[in-house]
Amino acid sequence: MSTETLPRLTVIGTGYLGATHAICMAVQGYEVLGVDVDQRKIERLAAGEVPFFEPGLPELLTKALESGRLRFTTSFAEAGEFGDVHFICVGTPQMKDSHAADVSYVYGATGELARHLHRRVLVVGKSTVPVGTAADLADLIASTAPAGSEIELAWNPEFLREGFAVDDTMNPDRLVFGVASAWAEEQLRAAFAPMIAQGSPVVVTDRKTAELVKVAANSFLATKISYINAMAEVCEATGADVHDLADALAYDSRIGGKFLKPGLGFGGGCLPKDIRAFAHRAGELGVGQAVAFLREVDAINQRRRARTVDLVRDLVGGDLNGVRIAALGAAFKPNSDDIRDAPALDVASTLQRAGARVRVFDPAALDNARRVHPELEYGESALDAAYEADVVVLLTEWSEFREIAPEAMASVVAHRRIVDGRHALDPEIWRGAGWEYRALGRP
Ligand code: UDX
Repeated sequence: MSTETLPRLTVIGTGYLGATHAICMAVQGYEVLGVDVDQRKIERLAAGEVPFFEPGLPELLTKALESGRLRFTTSFAEAGEFGDVHFICVGTPQMKDSHAADVSYVYGATGELARHLHRRVLVVGKSTVPVGTAADLADLIASTAPAGSEIELAWNPEFLREGFAVDDTMNPDRLVFGVASAWAEEQLRAAFAPMIAQGSPVVVTDRKTAELVKVAANSFLATKISYINAMAEVCEATGADVHDLADALAYDSRIGGKFLKPGLGFGGGCLPKDIRAFAHRAGELGVGQAVAFLREVDAINQRRRARTVDLVRDLVGGDLNGVRIAALGAAFKPNSDDIRDAPALDVASTLQRAGARVRVFDPAALDNARRVHPELEYGESALDAAYEADVVVLLTEWSEFREIAPEAMASVVAHRRIVDGRHALDPEIWRGAGWEYRALGRP
């Protein structure tokens, strides 16, 4: 498809999802306008600065800006004028007082955009929403947009993983198009032409199914993680080894080894809030029982954090008061500076509240961690955090932590004790170097 026939895209909401989508689509050859109500964010992006940590994205932002195909604005009027296909990429965080998703930003952004839609265009929801939201948004657009019912709404869930966001956007393992007409499908195919040409499979379905695909996928992933962590609890009670158990299960190609890594469990801006919102929505629909297991998945996951704290307490003889702890990791997973619902920081602050002196180090998330947890101490490197520590706790499996030599760490700590919250280290090597090594679900 030549550049002249490509639809012009707008991306409303330039957070993690939206900024990545806008930048990648411009690199793929589309004219893209990124829109956000946050003036500061727009200024930073327009100046070539990605406001969060994502490998590969800063280089692509520079490239996209240099191509002249990517611009940013805070004006919805400009967006309405410009775009043929408008992507809604705003957040749906958990509500403060319930497990439901807060969809107010989705309604706000869609309504604001709709006021400026004067011709037949496609609006595409990418945000993770409770099933049924798209139908309401379609009504909102029809009643708000000057072009009224000429405007169509489609749903296109996003599956990108932080840390791999560029590759997941450029080479998606599938595209899901939830559409209400053949015209909408055609527009979406044009909006994803490069990905389709290079072989990404497309599932075309209705909007409700598309909304559900996202929460069903995240629920499955969360369940798989909690499954192996439930096995870890059983291993802990019997003295069996969940690490070997997971290895053995993974050879069964029906089970597979991905998302079967036992440890401190899942966190982040998606899995925890998505399973809660899904269970909440299912309850509203009268099918709460069908996904009641998700509450157990959540509970198993939360228990991992408490068990990690217990393991540290055991290792120091039962009392955390005054114990000096080095916490390696703050981000919810490696290759990210995201600390939303991060198991690592949850554990670090629980240890601190129990009387320990906790010194945290993370290669990317220190600034974010400091802002939210000013009560914790922070080191400048892993070894700096471990200086005179009574126990080292590995909480996020950054590769630089995996590569630490036990002898180097031994030379700075007060006691050679380590809790490997992520099963990231080789116990034989650490024990061989004189360390007391402990990991959840391992003897
Ligand atoms: C997730 C989904 O993977 C993605 O498709 C969706 O779009 C958004 O939510 P993300 O939050 O970036 O992506 O992280 P992911 O890589 O899925 O990891 C989630 C959490 O699970 C992390 O805290 C990770 O440490 C944990 N995890 C993952 C495990 O504890 N064990 C595993 O085996 C895998």
